[in-house]
Amino acid sequence: MTEPSFLAAVRKSYDTVAEDYAKLVPPRFATDPLGRGMLAAFAELVRADGGQPVADLGCGPGHVAAHLESLGVPVFGVDLSPKMVEIARRTYPNLRVEVGSMTALDLPDGELGGIVAWWSILHLPPEELPAVFAEFHRVLAPGGHVLVGFHVGDEHLRPERAYGHPVSYDTHLLLPDGVAELLNRAGLNVAARLIQEPGEGLKRQQACLLARKPERS
Ligand SMILES: C[S@@+](CC[C@H](N)C(=O)[O-])C[C@H]1O[C@@H](n2cnc3c(N)ncnc32)[C@H](O)[C@@H]1O
Repeated sequence: MTEPSFLAAVRKSYDTVAEDYAKLVPPRFATDPLGRGMLAAFAELVRADGGQPVADLGCGPGHVAAHLESLGVPVFGVDLSPKMVEIARRTYPNLRVEVGSMTALDLPDGELGGIVAWWSILHLPPEELPAVFAEFHRVLAPGGHVLVGFHVGDEHLRPERAYGHPVSYDTHLLLPDGVAELLNRAGLNVAARLIQEPGEGLKRQQACLLARKPERS
């Protein structure tokens, strides 16, 4: 099957920015207590439900997956960009990280205790989100948890440069109500939302939604 062109643009762009992204972004994550609070709640829920594996989809340089591992969650990373995967493996040699796309996961049905998509659904054309959330539902075990983070808005951005390099991806800001509706429609019941307001280094609102696949569908 021919790969959609947006995936090639995202892969090429993140391969280009990966080394500088890895220097700039993980230190910001280290000073985001609210986001890490949502990850802590997610980790506690996954552990309480038996600690099945968690996939960090669009894991970038691996810092979020490594953080989840430090919280006692068995986690592996998946990223579209081979360069990001190389950096994650180099930085966290004990972490399992694979090249792949959340649009077509190389995973069996019902295997995961959780999925984290931390600022990684933002390069999907919005019309792809229902199919991607259906894919999340497919690979999650009954009772499995999902945590998605994204920039809030209704704009479609076409940045020419990012992290000091030329890029060719599109970035789609998303509205929390819209994402919640799509998750619910995919059979992933939204249980909690965190909205962070702009300020203190945040240019725009950010949202984190926690959802769960029911025990019985
Ligand atoms: C903004 S970065 C976020 C990285 C990391 N989650 C973090 O919080 O720093 C977006 C990442 O998602 C990856 N990505 C984008 N679309 C993807 C897809 N369809 N499947 C897997 N990874 C994807 C990119 O390669 C990039 O590493």
